[in-house]
Amino acid sequence: MPSAVPHEAHRERATGLVLEFSDVSKSFRQNSARVDALVHVSLEIWPGEFVVLTGPSGSGKSTLIHLAAGLETPTSGTIDLAGIDVRALDDDALSRLRCSKVGLIFQAFHLIDYLTAEENVALPLRFAGLPAADAAAQAREMLARVGLGPRTRHRPGELSGGEMQRVAIARALVVRPELLLADEPTGNLDSRTGAGILELLRQLNEQERVAVLLATHDERAAASAPRILELRDGAVVAASHRG
Ligand SMILES: Nc1ncnc2c1ncn2[C@@H]1O[C@H](COP(=O)(O)OP(=O)(O)O)[C@@H](O)[C@H]1O
Ligand SMILES: [Mg+2]
Repeated sequence: MPSAVPHEAHRERATGLVLEFSDVSKSFRQNSARVDALVHVSLEIWPGEFVVLTGPSGSGKSTLIHLAAGLETPTSGTIDLAGIDVRALDDDALSRLRCSKVGLIFQAFHLIDYLTAEENVALPLRFAGLPAADAAAQAREMLARVGLGPRTRHRPGELSGGEMQRVAIARALVVRPELLLADEPTGNLDSRTGAGILELLRQLNEQERVAVLLATHDERAAASAPRILELRDGAVVAASHRG
């Protein structure tokens, strides 16, 4: 069926980047006050990179993740996701782009209580139009990849916090996105379980070649990261690379 919007490829630029912020600012209005959550942020993320976004509470980490996911629009500046300027997209095109190129995980796992682990993970594939049997098979495979092979029939209420986050990671990755955005994914977990989740994200980054942008104030995550971006009052104040 012909699409009412021009094909997305027309707006792609061949930068090769999975994510590019160019001079992005985001302000919120609260009553009469203005909160500048992000100020003039520019950043580039390449395919397969692992980047940790640090900074104190209120520094703008979640705002940056939400903008990268296309869940919010910038007040000024441009955001390119997989070479596509997200401003140019209408809601449908944006949600298609988000579903195919980006995986999202949060501190709260946002699983559907009455669905099994397998059904939760299969959901994005079902939305993408995959037949139920294929979606279920891919969901089981992804659950095995995150170490939950024997738990596919369990519902969230029958899983531990760490296991629920693994289900959420499997759900984010089952569509084979180019970028995984993680906002404080260890925030609800004890430190040992959190360390296991960070280790899993590193493994998946290496083995599945998915770029990861991980917002956290978990010092262990920053300690082992190949690349760190540090936010302070909405601005990137430090960036470091480890070879
Ligand atoms: N929807 C919103 N409305 C008003 N202010 C917001 C909103 N979202 C975030 N902020 C403000 O923007 C700043 C950055 O918040 P946030 O991105 O959540 O930081 P972090 O994730 O680093 O804790 C904070 O001052 C916060 O209060
Ligand atoms: Mg936050």
